[in-house]
Amino acid sequence: MSEKYFIVTYGCQMNVHESEKIAGILRRMGYEETPNMETADIIVFNTCCIRENAENHAFGNIGALKKMKKQNPALIIAVGGCMTQEQGKTEVLKKKFPFIDIMFGALNFEDLEFLILRKKREKKRVIAIRETEGEIVENIEPYRTSYPNAWVNITYGCNNFCTYCIVPYVRGRERSRKPENIVAEVEKLVAEGYKEITLLGQNVNSYGSDGSTEVTFAQLLDKIASIEGKFRLRFMTSHPKDFTEDVVAVMEKHRKICRLVHLPVQSGSSKILKEMNRRYTREKYLEEIRTLKTRLPEAEVTTDIIVGFPGETEEDYLQTESLVREVDFASAFTFVYSPRKGTKAAEMPNAVPESVQKDRIMRLVELVNSLTRAKSEKYLGKTVEILCEDYDSKKGLYMGRDEFGRMGYFTSEENRIGQFVSLKITKANGISLFGEIENTHGERK
Ligand code: 5AD
Ligand code: SF4
Repeated sequence: MSEKYFIVTYGCQMNVHESEKIAGILRRMGYEETPNMETADIIVFNTCCIRENAENHAFGNIGALKKMKKQNPALIIAVGGCMTQEQGKTEVLKKKFPFIDIMFGALNFEDLEFLILRKKREKKRVIAIRETEGEIVENIEPYRTSYPNAWVNITYGCNNFCTYCIVPYVRGRERSRKPENIVAEVEKLVAEGYKEITLLGQNVNSYGSDGSTEVTFAQLLDKIASIEGKFRLRFMTSHPKDFTEDVVAVMEKHRKICRLVHLPVQSGSSKILKEMNRRYTREKYLEEIRTLKTRLPEAEVTTDIIVGFPGETEEDYLQTESLVREVDFASAFTFVYSPRKGTKAAEMPNAVPESVQKDRIMRLVELVNSLTRAKSEKYLGKTVEILCEDYDSKKGLYMGRDEFGRMGYFTSEENRIGQFVSLKITKANGISLFGEIENTHGERK
């Protein structure tokens, strides 16, 4: 009987996809997935350190394994991801959790096979964190679990050093994959029946900035959108400082590219944006939105916003609120600023008191929700194209998303997963839509 693996993932889409690659490595070694942690022979934690609560979460869950490891000493516990890459964190983990068997870094998860073999051979703890980024490894076949959606990395790392952000320290400098490798991967996915491809990078717009290719992001997007077949194309994350008109032009050219851009603004105050080292102003951001919506009137924008950054006054916060109203985001991820050791902002004076941060995040969430709700109501009576992703057994309904990421639910006698479904919207409930099928197109995998 094969040994079983269980992976716990924290953080963003990038990490979720990285876990698919970790699963690919484990399967290549002969491990099989188990849905039940208690029956696993190896448990891998793919951690995140972008905010303190993500770290606390991982700490809590790793700590809870002490008992399991005692009952089953042969169990291998491996911890990797962004957290182990943080300066001094491995020491903390080593002391706090002596039962961890393997520690690997986000910069060398590809070594996991070798590290597991070494652990089995030497029977002692293996710690191997790579300090600097290496060559991009292309030969790992991810084990994808999100059909009909597939993620494809185009860049790794980040060069921007926003003052609050730990990513450039733990993920290294920006590196771009070769365009031919990316195009080949997407061609293969489309041929296999995947219907939605999301290109991933911390700052997709600066694709090629490492000098490894002459191809710009807009050109890469054009090449990928020219692949035959019916599929949706998305990309994230765009950085407002680099979001150029040539990308909008390629979006105009190809209907396959979803009219939804994730463009994190972080703050509506130019003063705070400067302190964050974002390298654009409120006015420049609004100008970009105007250009996008003039050229593509149906386009929607989603964003990330941080409240309570050091020095943020009530006036600054109100500027964020006014920008949110002006742009009318389709949705927004909202965060309370979390100081990260080693970043510039962590040393800044004028910390915003926690009670003020809490008050601001509550007001902002309320505002964002009210905009999202108002947008939902506009869907009533309309027909939208949903890509069916899953069946919600609790609700007894199929679910999927429209090109703007809006969730749509419906009933069907047939399995619709992987099909594009035209849905007439009969009910809009907060952020979810409910409707009836008008017709379907696109065959399943
Ligand atoms: N505190 C709060 N939010 C943060 N983000 C990144 N670093 C921090 C931090 N230290 C948010 C940003 C980014 C998103 C992925 O996480 O909004 O766009
Ligand atoms: Fe962090 Fe800024 Fe890079 Fe995004 S662009 S990963 S926020 S440093």
